[in-house]
Amino acid sequence: MGDSIFRDKTIVIGITGGIACYKVLDLIKELRKLGSKVHAIMTEASTHLVATKDFEKASGNEVQTALFHPKINYVEYIKKNKPIKHISLADMADLFLVCPATANVIGKIANGIADDLLTTSVTATTAPLLICPAMNVKMWENPIVQDNVKKLKKLNYNFVEPEYGELACGYKGMGRLANIKRIIDRIGLLLKQRSDLKNKKILVTAGATVEEIDPVRVITNKSSGKMGINIAEQAFLRGADVILLRGYNSVEPSYSIKEEKFTTVDDLFSKVKKYIKSADIAIHAAAVSDFAINDKHGSKIKSGKELHLELVPTAKIFERLKGINKKLFLVGFKAEHNFSDRKLIDSAYDILRKADADLVVANDVGRANRGFDVDTNEVFVVDKDKKVRHIRLADKRIVADKILDIIINKVK
Ligand SMILES: Cc1cc2nc3c(=O)[nH]c(=O)nc-3n(C[C@H](O)[C@H](O)[C@H](O)COP(=O)(O)O)c2cc1C
Repeated sequence: MGDSIFRDKTIVIGITGGIACYKVLDLIKELRKLGSKVHAIMTEASTHLVATKDFEKASGNEVQTALFHPKINYVEYIKKNKPIKHISLADMADLFLVCPATANVIGKIANGIADDLLTTSVTATTAPLLICPAMNVKMWENPIVQDNVKKLKKLNYNFVEPEYGELACGYKGMGRLANIKRIIDRIGLLLKQRSDLKNKKILVTAGATVEEIDPVRVITNKSSGKMGINIAEQAFLRGADVILLRGYNSVEPSYSIKEEKFTTVDDLFSKVKKYIKSADIAIHAAAVSDFAINDKHGSKIKSGKELHLELVPTAKIFERLKGINKKLFLVGFKAEHNFSDRKLIDSAYDILRKADADLVVANDVGRANRGFDVDTNEVFVVDKDKKVRHIRLADKRIVADKILDIIINKVK
């Protein structure tokens, strides 16, 4: 990993009372060598394990330990608009690291507790948070600790999991602080994610359309929206100005991304038109119905007898987008069922040409663990020259990130 992503970035490190906290001295030195600025916050417990002056020397900055300063009259202080420490630390961070993270601090963060400088700053920051737990194996395996970690992961907090090995307490097992290089690699990835789509307006569509047969019955498809929503989330984390249009029954995004929900193909199209002119990039991952009911019934159709529905083709939204915004970098999705790789790629290229698109991402929803309503995917990304990038089976978050990497390389 090149070091430029670290240069001039501010990393705020919260050091908590784990025996591994002396290892963070090396981590800080490494980050500074790579060009980052480091500010350390130490919990009271950690100051019993390593002296604040050691972290001061390593970071080159004054180490912060207290939420309140005993000599400050805060009423007067705030009237003068002076900076409050936990807010300044929270705001200055390009990345907030808690390393090592004790069972205690993980529990506090998971439960929104803000009772010292570190936990208050963590609550106040909007920077990506990276937590590196380290503790005795029994503590790590404690179901309450595991529940807290699960809860935080669900909220998209980032973790570098502890490793297996000899522990300072004499036990052997999971709980050792992760290798410093692993932590640095992850910091690099998160810093990269934070900024490389800054100033780009991205429209993402995700999820299934719904066409009414009558007021209670619908034609829809199995799309959960997970792939598109993961793309919207990753684009958001990488600094893009994202507008997400998602189907009514799709999964909820984890971040407060600007969004509108759609129902029918027509509804989706009118919402797309609203945003497409000002977008730099459109990623059309919604699963759009190819058919709508010709003559929608105004009341519930009686059951018990044969029913013939006339279906009519819907608008080909994807093929119309370049016509509305010629400068748009247009990315589409093509889902096929039980195709060979070759046929899948040909089918993707076919719609790419029809839509004058820049990329089409093809996946086969007939293969296990790919496509609809699962957390993983395998895709082929086809470009205008019919060059193909294969993204192997992985979590949709990772696939989303790799798709964005390809897009960024093309729009640069
Ligand atoms: C010598 C010593 C080593 C400790 N090491 C760890 C550790 O590695 N991980 C952990 O979760 N707690 C460890 N603890 C317990 C924490 O210091 C304790 O839970 C403390 O309340 C944590 O406070 P903090 O999270 O505010 O730093 C250790 C305690 C002592 C006395």
